[in-house]
Amino acid sequence: MSGRFPPAPPVGTPMLASRPSPDARTLIALRRSISKRSLSEPGPSQQQLDELLTVATRVPDHRRLAPWRFLVFEGAARDAFNQRAVEIQKQETPEASETMLADTAGYFTRAPVVVAVISSPDVTHKTPVWEQELSCGALCHNLLLAANASGWAGCWLTEWIAFSPGINQLLELGTHERVAAYIYLGTATAAPQERMRPDVAAKISRWQP
Ligand SMILES: Cc1cc2nc3c(=O)[nH]c(=O)nc-3n(C[C@H](O)[C@H](O)[C@H](O)COP(=O)(O)O)c2cc1C
Repeated sequence: MSGRFPPAPPVGTPMLASRPSPDARTLIALRRSISKRSLSEPGPSQQQLDELLTVATRVPDHRRLAPWRFLVFEGAARDAFNQRAVEIQKQETPEASETMLADTAGYFTRAPVVVAVISSPDVTHKTPVWEQELSCGALCHNLLLAANASGWAGCWLTEWIAFSPGINQLLELGTHERVAAYIYLGTATAAPQERMRPDVAAKISRWQP
């Protein structure tokens, strides 16, 4: 399903400033996330995923800090995470209902591959942390686009596991690291539908002195 991406050329190679592409325009104009309930096997192989992650990192990055990293969950590691997450939820949210715990017990097995994108800013650097976090957000979306362009369905979820001290500890995140996204990747079992779109004209104004 997944095609190959061209490798990055050597540093200094002359590059194109734009790449007109009807396919790319269609992809961007019509992209949709898949529902978290509509993902199944197969997912990208390790080699395919490595390529997706490589091209996903071709994002704007002020002062080239690469302030992000990936934590990949595949195979049995997904259910192992689920079980630990249930224990953490019980500790952190004693009032969590059986339904909530049951949901958590199935989180990472909703897709063949889950990629935690970790925002990993250098807080001592003169590049503002905000800019480093924005670069991480750009990477998340780039990963979704790269996956779609390769035939994979994907969605960006956070849920409580992106905001839990216990999960951060389980994932061994550093003090200033945060989960920016859990990107779920696999094969769609049902096609998404177009959703309501914002009134973009209302979002655009033109500054006048
Ligand atoms: C930072 C971030 C976190 C998100 N977390 C969730 C989430 O936890 N649960 C959810 O249903 N959708 C979440 N979404 C929204 C979906 O990823 C998706 O964008 C939404 O369903 C709209 O679909 P579309 O991407 O095709 O427009 C999140 C989006 C972003 C940008």
